[in-house]
Formats: sequence, C-alpha cells, structure tokens
Amino acid sequence: MSYFKIADLEQYFKHTKKAVREPRKFWGKMAEEAFLWYQAPERVFEFDFTNGDIKWFMGGKLNITKNCIDRYVARKGDKNAIIFESNNPDEPTQFISYNDLYQRVCKTANVLKSLGIEKGDRVCLYLPMIPELAIAMLACARIGAIHSVIFAGFSDAAARRRIEDCGAKLVITADGGFRGDKTIKLKEVIDKAINGLDCVEKVLVVKRTNQDIPFQAEKDVWFDELYANASEECNPEIMDAEDPLFILYTSGSTGKPKGMVHTTGGYMVQTAYTFANVFDYKEEDIFWCTADLGWITGHSYMLYGALLNGATTVIHEGIPTYPTPSRYWDIIDKHKVTHFYTAPTAIRSLMTNDYSYITSHDLSSLRVLGSVGEPINEEAWHWFNDFVGKKRCPIMDTWWQTETGAILIAPLAFKTPTKPTYATLPLPGTQAVLLDEHGEEIEDFQQMGNLCIKHPWPSMARTIWGDHKRYVETYFSTFPGYYFTGDNALRDEVGYYRIVGRTDDVIIVSGHNLGTAPIEDAINQHPAVAESAIVGYPHEIKGNTMYGFISLKVEGNYRDRDNLKKEINQLIADHYGPIGKLDKIQFVDDLPKTRSGKILRRMLRAIANNQENNLGDTSTMINPEILKKIIEEKL
Ligand code: WT7
Repeated sequence: MSYFKIADLEQYFKHTKKAVREPRKFWGKMAEEAFLWYQAPERVFEFDFTNGDIKWFMGGKLNITKNCIDRYVARKGDKNAIIFESNNPDEPTQFISYNDLYQRVCKTANVLKSLGIEKGDRVCLYLPMIPELAIAMLACARIGAIHSVIFAGFSDAAARRRIEDCGAKLVITADGGFRGDKTIKLKEVIDKAINGLDCVEKVLVVKRTNQDIPFQAEKDVWFDELYANASEECNPEIMDAEDPLFILYTSGSTGKPKGMVHTTGGYMVQTAYTFANVFDYKEEDIFWCTADLGWITGHSYMLYGALLNGATTVIHEGIPTYPTPSRYWDIIDKHKVTHFYTAPTAIRSLMTNDYSYITSHDLSSLRVLGSVGEPINEEAWHWFNDFVGKKRCPIMDTWWQTETGAILIAPLAFKTPTKPTYATLPLPGTQAVLLDEHGEEIEDFQQMGNLCIKHPWPSMARTIWGDHKRYVETYFSTFPGYYFTGDNALRDEVGYYRIVGRTDDVIIVSGHNLGTAPIEDAINQHPAVAESAIVGYPHEIKGNTMYGFISLKVEGNYRDRDNLKKEINQLIADHYGPIGKLDKIQFVDDLPKTRSGKILRRMLRAIANNQENNLGDTSTMINPEILKKIIEEKL
C-alpha cells in the first residue's frame, strides 16, 4: 500500500481515515518509501502541545538536496529543473537542467564553505528573483546552513531586524535587481542594514545589473570570483530530520516579526506530498508559481515541493505588467505552462486590464490553476475560471500559512469538486476543527468558528527563532490542546471549509457575526470597483457597524460617487443581506497592503476608529504613501 499518491476521491477518504487512526503508519510508511534517507527514522512523531514540543521522523538522517537534485540527476539529468524568465523579455530564457542545477548548487555550496559557513550557521539572502537565489537556498541546505530569505522589497530597517534576530554570519545580496522599468538597489540597502551589526562577517555579492556599488574590501566579496574556481562536487551534509532547514519571518500582530523555524525531514515529506496531490503533478508538467521566493509559497512550491517531485519550475524575475499587461500570458504561452499558482491580489489586478491582453494568447497548455494567500472573492474566482482556465482548469484554493509549511486545506485537482470561495477539504493528516469562543467544537454547518488543528503534522514550524515562549503563546495557549491558526472559517453541509478571514476581521453587528469576505465579495461584483476592505467601528445601537474602503477601476472615476454608494449598498443587500450594508463608504486610490499583497485591515480599522496615530508597523507596506490621503479624507 503506497500512501504518497492519492488515486481518487474514495482513496482520499481512506487515507484521511488512516491518517487519523494510524498516523504513525500513514506518515512513517510514506516517508520511508518516497524519499532517500541515510538512515530511516526510528520514531514517526512525538508531541506536546502544552509546551509546543513537536518532533517528526526522529532518528532519520537525510539531506533534502539529495532528494531534490541528486536522485533526479541519476534518473533524468537532462530534464529542466528551472526555467528562468528575466524581467526583460529580450533577455534569453535560462533553462537549467537537473545536471546543471547539481553543478551550480555544489559550486555555490563550496563558495559558502570557503567563507567559513558551517552546519547550523545562519545565512540571510537578500536577492532578486534570479536563479542564484534558488541555488543559494539549496547550497545552504547542501551544507546544513540555515537559510533565511528576506524579500528584496523590504527596507533596510526591516532587513536589519531579521538579520540581527537570527544572527546571520553571512548575507548574500546582489549589485541590484530589475523590477518592471526600475532598477533596484540592494547592496546599498544591505550596507545600511548591517551597519554596526557584529554578527555579519561577510557580504557575498552576486552580479545582476552591473551597476556601480559601494564595495568594502574587508567585508564584501564578489560571488563570481569565488564561484569560478569552486569545485563541482560537494558531499551533502548528513542532517538529522529535526535539524533546522530554514527560518522565514512572518509578521505578527505586534511589530516584531516572528522567525518561523522549519526543520528538514517533516518539511520535506509534506511539501512533496502536497505538491504531488493537490496539483495532480505529472512528469511532463511545467509548474509556475508566481510568488516570490521570499515568501513561504515560493519556498514550498516554487522550490522544494517542485524539485522533490522532479518537476520543472518556472522562476520569473519581474512583475505581471512589464513590459505590458500580457507578460504573464506571454510566459504561459511561451513555455506551455501547465500549472499557474498565484494570489487573489494578482488576479484582481490582472482583471482590471483589457481582455485583449489575455485573449491574444494561447493558454491551452494550462491544466490546473491555484490561488493562495487570502480568501479569493467570487468575482475574481469566476474571472480566473472563465478567462484564464477557460472553464476547463480546476482552481485549487489552497489554505495554509508560513507556520504550516505546506498546504493543509485544498481540493485535489480533478478529484475534489471545487466550489467558489471554498478551500474545500483538509488533506489527509490534517485534523481541522472549528471551535467556538468557549473552545467547544462546532458541528453545525454555516456557523463561523476559530479554525484550529488538533494533531501535529510533519511540516509545522517547530518554534519561533529565539523566542519559544512566544511560539507557545501565539499558537497553543488560546485553545489549550489545539494549534490555533488565527483564522475564522465555516463549513458547508458537505464539510467544505470556507476561510472567512483572520479572527480579528470579524465584525459583530447587532449581534451578528459578520465575516468581511462575503460582504467584500458582494461589493467587488460592482463593475466599477477594483478592491474593497471593510472594518468595524463602534455604534451606539448596533454595537459595531461597518466602514468600507473601496478603490475603483479607471472607469469608476467617471461615476457619480453618491450613486455608486447606493448601488454598492444595494448589491450588498441583494447578495449578502441588508445587515451587511455599510454605514460609511470612502473611495480611496489604493488599499494599504503588505509587500506580499495582503490588505492591511488593521490600519484601516485604526483609521476608522480615529486611531490614526496608532497605525503600527508600516515598514512592511508596499504603498505607505497612500495613508496620508486616506486619513485626510476620512468620513
Ligand atoms: C494567512 C497566512 C500560505 C502561503 C501564503 C500566505 C491567509 C492563506 C488562504 C486561502 C483564505 C488564506 C490566512 C492565513 N490565507 N491562504 N486559500 N484562503 N485565506 O502565508 O503570509 O503566512 O499568511 O493567509 O489568513 O492564516 P502567510
């Protein structure tokens, strides 16, 4: 009996039951049969949710890069591992085979060694989306160094906080990066970020833009110079299953980012398993995840999950609208992409363009679509389904978190019937529950509750770097005995999950628990609306009432604002119910967002509640300049 690949829906239910009744057998067998170990695990797991102690595949010895690269070099070394599309479409595509990848990772690993990097050392990567970033991640893993990728859009202050927190010995950056029509400075940002930080011994600089940069002979080293003479063989470091593989920072409710620590064995098993099954991966597929490698989606599905399955993964350096809004469709057409995994915010921005950008391209290679990062609103779902998938590609609405390491709730392509805005069913091994405010399990359908998980899974983050207490408090203390996701969700009559938003996105109006997502769905159906976000503010009679911040499409700017407001409230009344009508509607140029595209509702909530002096951390925002006008025009 093989557990790695799920054949059909019936088997999905069998595996789900098996993983509850005999989790040791289920995961233990899968780990042994589908991966290469120097030494097989002795115990499958141990856990204690009270103290946040979680271990998987204990005693197992492995190296994840042997599973990602070496085993495919042996079987099909000429197959493309990575297809790299530059920001500039005139720059030739790079096709990196498994053989090439092996060589480049080994050489880069030897460069790291020559700089004194050893097992357990932390290495921060602040690089553009170029193959060297993926290769540097794998090179760290090859020698057992812990990588921590910092999204290259973060400011020096945000980068510094992360570099300092994990005590990085080395930072890898580039002379610059290309993003749309901009050339971004990276080295200057890192110079500022590490100024006076003792932990950083060296800065390794990759050439990308060839622009002049400040260079300090004592600290800075050109990557090319060391790489040219590096040996092409590097034996993998033998890692314990519970040795850390990487640290990835995610923003918390307070200012300080949380360095989520992922370990080697469990992360490997579950990212590979979910990649294979959720996306119905087949040998000839070309998988494109549009996330940045600086986010968990990039780590788990652009890189590790894909390579662990021997897949071909596309890396795109640029943005969807450069040089024209058809860049994504060009890439799909050019490389015959079969899987397109992106975020609702990207879909919504693509939707605002003329349809001719998309209809002039052949997208018939597409088989499966994916969405992640936020609830996908209905309008975006239908647009994605109709115009991109041409109604023949199932949409995998995948729910997970930086902390979960891998997808936990999602359909299985071509097996689970999909339903707009529903992430559908937990994958085998995920024991999801909804808890009410007293911690009782909710059994009824369509009742919103706190999404929690009652059994550990292999790829869960094991701690917060340097702050285990915060890990226990954040995830295990709200509902003792459960992992608390911080999300609200509900279930329909067949058990499908709909993620409604973060728990703090819930607004209680006249005693009704209203999730923001379904109301925003109604608003977004208005043809003039680009995006919307609703927050609550106190109301004498209703307890709370709703304030909507709405950005318009270009044509919306020509419309009468008062009429628009009426039409929007009418849509809410029609599609959601009059209880969801907004008391205040403010039209804004853009909604405040994080660099990964999440709407920062907490800022809008502060503004609506007259706490604009208390907006919290703005350093992770992509568009801080919009706040001033939103505050000035507040209703
Ligand atoms: C939060 C985690 C998982 C990789 C990218 C984000 C929200 C994520 C969905 C989805 C509704 C979703 C949740 C979650 N989220 N996927 N399919 N439907 N909401 O990782 O930055 O750690 O954010 O993103 O609120 O808790 P992250």
